Amino acid sequence: MRETVRDVTIPVSSLIYPIFTGEMPAPNPVASMPGVSQLPVAEAIQTIRDLAGDGLKQFILFGITPPAKKDATGSYAGDPDAPVNRVLQAVRDAGLDVVMHADLCFCEYTDHGHCGVLLDGAASGGAGGTGAVVDNDRTLQNLGKTAVAQANAGADVVAPSGMMDGMVQAIRSALDEAGHHQTAVLSYAVKYASNFYGPFRDAGEGGMSFGDRKGYQMDFRRSREWRSELLADLEQGADMVMVKPAAAYLDIIKGVRESCDVPVAAYHVSGEYAMLHAAAEKGYLDLKQAALETTYAIRRAGADQIVTYFAPQLLKWL
Ligand code: PBG
Repeated sequence: MRETVRDVTIPVSSLIYPIFTGEMPAPNPVASMPGVSQLPVAEAIQTIRDLAGDGLKQFILFGITPPAKKDATGSYAGDPDAPVNRVLQAVRDAGLDVVMHADLCFCEYTDHGHCGVLLDGAASGGAGGTGAVVDNDRTLQNLGKTAVAQANAGADVVAPSGMMDGMVQAIRSALDEAGHHQTAVLSYAVKYASNFYGPFRDAGEGGMSFGDRKGYQMDFRRSREWRSELLADLEQGADMVMVKPAAAYLDIIKGVRESCDVPVAAYHVSGEYAMLHAAAEKGYLDLKQAALETTYAIRRAGADQIVTYFAPQLLKWL
């Protein structure tokens, strides 16, 4: 009877699986994220093929950049030869029936690790740990160019995650000017300066060389700010919006879901994944049951789509 009266379900089509790809010679396991590896381009393509064969429909790509290719603006993100763009192209050429999202941010491509171009003088230590570091408006132009490069390579969705003001508008205009009217924008509209991104920064090698992201990501001590972030992105033409992190932000997911009609995604982030694994390794809880419960909670709060490192396991568990 419990089964017949349940009203929350998680369709496999709603899951988005993050993939980290780079120029390493072989898959490189991420120590803080059991089951997740950085993948060379060929392995990333094969992983997508295999999981698509098992029914997974959506993937989001992150690029890992060797230090020699990092620069002050993160220009390598827009290079057709960069791993993310090569994977996009290969998946497009293979005609796989999947939706490919490209994470659109510069932190994995800049030599200082921030999500955009720095304000003049910021790198010299004047930033003092908090406050504005990134030159918002100069970063917008680069976002537009990179979005076009990702769409050229075959991205179905570009997903800006840098929390720059005006990013959706800049990206939408650049895509339209380049004729990419069909490429959708999934904005990380509501993204907090969270302590739960640590393992991701290992995986993506996108940590900051100084300072933090409080100048552009949101303060989790503010309960209403999400509304203006959401409305701004919708007005600029966001096709879908993301809340991030997810498990500690169920109230925010619910608020966003009730305040708009576009699809709402939630990102169950690396630290939220890692802590379930760490507790399970100690025998404090059952990984499968705790992961399912958490994913159901995110869905119940109102997420239409869930970005999760558990996606391959959820394929079997659901
Ligand atoms: C890049 C980005 C981050 C994540 C996704 N895109 C890290 C950050 O903002 O520091 C985090 C994802 C995760 O923790 O799983 N801007």
